[in-house]
Amino acid sequence: LAKQELPPVVLVIDDNEANRALAKGALEDEGYSVVLAAGGEEGLEAFTRCHPDCVLLDVRMPDVDGFEVCEKIRGLPDGAGVPVLFLTALRDVDTFDHALRAGGDDFLTKPIRPTELLVRVQTAMKLRRMSVELREHYDLLRRQRDDLLRVQLQKERLSAFIVHDLKNPVGSMDLNAQLLLRDPTLSDASRSAATQIRSSARNLNRMILDLLDVAKADEGKLTARVARIELSPLVDRVFVDLSASARDRRITLAASLDVLRVSADENLLHRILVNLVENAIRHSPAETTVLVRSTQVEGGVDLRVIDAGTGIDPRLRDQIFEPFVQIDSPDHPRARGGRGLGLSFCKKAVQAQGGEIWVEDVPPGATFCVRLPDVP
Ligand SMILES: Nc1ncnc2c1ncn2[C@@H]1O[C@H](COP(=O)(O)OP(=O)(O)OP(=O)(O)O)[C@@H](O)[C@H]1O
Ligand SMILES: [Mg+2]
Repeated sequence: LAKQELPPVVLVIDDNEANRALAKGALEDEGYSVVLAAGGEEGLEAFTRCHPDCVLLDVRMPDVDGFEVCEKIRGLPDGAGVPVLFLTALRDVDTFDHALRAGGDDFLTKPIRPTELLVRVQTAMKLRRMSVELREHYDLLRRQRDDLLRVQLQKERLSAFIVHDLKNPVGSMDLNAQLLLRDPTLSDASRSAATQIRSSARNLNRMILDLLDVAKADEGKLTARVARIELSPLVDRVFVDLSASARDRRITLAASLDVLRVSADENLLHRILVNLVENAIRHSPAETTVLVRSTQVEGGVDLRVIDAGTGIDPRLRDQIFEPFVQIDSPDHPRARGGRGLGLSFCKKAVQAQGGEIWVEDVPPGATFCVRLPDVP
């Protein structure tokens, strides 16, 4: 840093006394500090001693020629980044090529013209600086890219861990609870506990899948396999999955399907509906109904999940589709829910099928509408 504030040092290596004097005069007039050397050996020695910012190098010298000096400079610890300009009387292409191969930056023919010399020195130094900066930016970008790749790899490992190591025990909890429920001698209290275990295990499973799919969608890897599917059995399955929590909260689940077939990814649509109906159940007062409706619209089908609960503040209707957003209120005990991933999964899964999802303004309660386009 301190070096930048001092005038730049130019090392002039030339066996011709008149040339040295001319270069020195021109450069010093412009505020450079000039170090002179009368031959190759002397020049190399001066280079190590004064760490110049630029080198002017004569090609023909009696002891070591300019090409060799340049190669040696490039081999020195801080010699790679310093611009070297060759000075020569030879005008042929060979010399030019040789100069470049030896590691030179530019090539000036004698006699030296002061203005040209200054411009070339300035340009060479500027180019070097820029290439150093470019190199630094490039290195920084590379490091950042490597870091990103590493994080990405960790994320993928974490996902694999979640899929394989969390889903299986959750599935086994559900299966064992089912096994218990088959026992006819089970007391009512145990039966209710086993049902509770089943419902919690399924909810946990749903959250794991939501989390994985939200992450997938962020990477653009959530793809839908759209086919024509039957709505009625799908909605029935959703209701069966959520029957325990609905019973718990004394909510009736009902369907009113004007349209019976949609173009959708069956698995994604199933989980979208589970999320919407689960939310509806959780936010509804007892003794009310959660209704699933399907209606034909131009170019597609609208699926609505309608509840008689507290509804959603119009100002928050966009936010709730963002990951990890949950609305805090005394009526909505957070602890009972998950982590606010359900609706972001729904949005991404609907979009993956070319559809849209929104909250409708039809109080009381909340109405979520999913529009799925017809695919021929
Ligand atoms: N039917 C509804 N009535 C009232 N508020 C709702 C309804 N559905 C969602 N919300 C609000 O939107 C928020 C986000 O819902 P979302 O499904 O994304 O998360 P969650 O249900 O809290 O957790 P998760 O679905 O991950 O288990 C909820 O916390 C709730 O405040
Ligand atoms: Mg939810």
